[in-house]
Formats: sequence, C-alpha cells, structure tokens
Amino acid sequence: MAIERTFSMVKPDGVDRGLIGEVLRRYESNGLKISALRMTRLVPGRTQEFYGMHRGKPFFDELVAFVSSGPVVGMVVEGEDAIRRVRDIMGATNYKQAIPGTIRAEFAREITRNIVHGSDSPESAAREIEFFFGGT
Ligand code: RTP
Ligand code: MG
Repeated sequence: MAIERTFSMVKPDGVDRGLIGEVLRRYESNGLKISALRMTRLVPGRTQEFYGMHRGKPFFDELVAFVSSGPVVGMVVEGEDAIRRVRDIMGATNYKQAIPGTIRAEFAREITRNIVHGSDSPESAAREIEFFFGGT
C-alpha cells in the first residue's frame, strides 16, 4: 500500500462539542500524521461547492446549512492507506450503523450532524485538499 494524503474535517458540531482534540488524537494514535491544519468558516456558497457531488439530493440543503453554521477544522492526514484508514476511524455515515468505537458511533446523534468528514477516494482527496488549502 502506498503512502496517501487525505482530507478530513471536524464539522461544526465536533468543534462546538469540544471534539477537535479527540479527532486529532484518534488519527495520531493510529500512526497517521497531521501535515496541515486550519480552522475556518465556510460560507454557504463554498459549502455547496465542497459537497457539490450531493447537489440535488434530499439532504443537501440541510447539510449545507449545518456545515456553514460555525467553524470547521480542516486537515491533511498522511500515511499508508490513509484514505481508507481515516474512513474506518470515522465510522459509517449513519451513526446507528457505525462500528462501536468509531468516532461517529461514539459521538454522533443524528445522520447529518456526524462530527467529521473524510475524503472517499484519491480524486476526492486531491480536490478537497486543493479546495481547503490551495493558495494558503
Ligand atoms: P462525509 O462526506 O461528510 O465524510 O460523509 P460520508 O462520506 O460518510 O457521507 P456522504 O454520503 O458523503 O454524505 C455527506 C454528509 O451528508 C450528510 N448526510 N445526511 N440525512 C441523510 O440521509 C444524510 N445523508 C448524508 C452527513 O453529514 C454526511 O456525512
Ligand atoms: Mg462523503
């Protein structure tokens, strides 16, 4: 397996609930490296662009309103097989189906407000890293 870079983001509910450190600790204690980190707030237009693949889906407007509602912490996470490992540490989109011990199983209480985002493919990772850190 190759060394990969992926993008992860603590969503506004994770920031509000004091879970930034918890998310970072889980990645670092699994041997992944945080190689970039930035707190910012995404306005609705930027959030629509970020989640553009979901445009038109029933949950899109709620997702955009939620992710735009407060600060987020974006990061680049590096390591062997990082894209899959970050997704495994996060747990399934629906927290009710997430494996016990994952971030979403432990902390999420709604499908939309699920604490954390992680890129789902090498293409998404490259696009999302550029979206968040390009030009900085
Ligand atoms: P993410 O992109 O945030 O890492 O989450 P994911 O890959 O696990 O899930 P995805 O299908 O990409 O959905 C993006 C986010 O939209 C919200 N969602 N709500 N109400 C619903 O049925 C629903 N489905 C998805 C979640 O916040 C999800 O993480
Ligand atoms: Mg996704």
